[in-house]
Amino acid sequence: MPKLFQRSLTTHLFSALLKGQVAVVTGGAGGIGKYIAQRFAQEGCNVVIADINASEGQKAARELSKMTKNASVKFIKTDCGVESDIKGCMDKTYKEFGKINVLVNNAARFIFGSVYGG
Ligand SMILES: NC(=O)c1ccc[n+]([C@@H]2O[C@H](COP(=O)([O-])OP(=O)(O)OC[C@H]3O[C@@H](n4cnc5c(N)ncnc54)[C@H](O)[C@@H]3O)[C@@H](O)[C@H]2O)c1
Repeated sequence: MPKLFQRSLTTHLFSALLKGQVAVVTGGAGGIGKYIAQRFAQEGCNVVIADINASEGQKAARELSKMTKNASVKFIKTDCGVESDIKGCMDKTYKEFGKINVLVNNAARFIFGSVYGG
């Protein structure tokens, strides 16, 4: 089958819509968030990885930029539990790209323990 027809029309339409958009992915330095950031970068989006982990975040931005040949993958250190950090991230993103089109609220931590507090 010709490569053009291997993806559905809807997929092609979404790809066209995503190109040049700005996507912020919280917790994008690793795990599921990193893969989400990768997919946006592959679709030609400007991607901001907003993560509390600076070393992994910078590493992920470099790695995804290289892998997807998309220079617009940036890291902004952000603790999503701190309001001023979130505002700072949004301000920096606006300053860099002039808009925000997609926000993926992915960052979280699992805290294991008994529901009875024991
Ligand atoms: N992995 C699973 O099986 C699973 C199942 C259900 C839901 N989820 C949800 O999916 C999301 C991602 O899960 P994952 O397994 O990829 O997690 P992960 O622990 O692999 O990655 C989480 C990322 O979030 C970042 N992070 C943590 N606290 C942060 C904060 N305060 N501010 C900014 N960044 C922060 C971490 O540095 C890390 O890069 C989470 O919201 C999780 O609750 C995961």
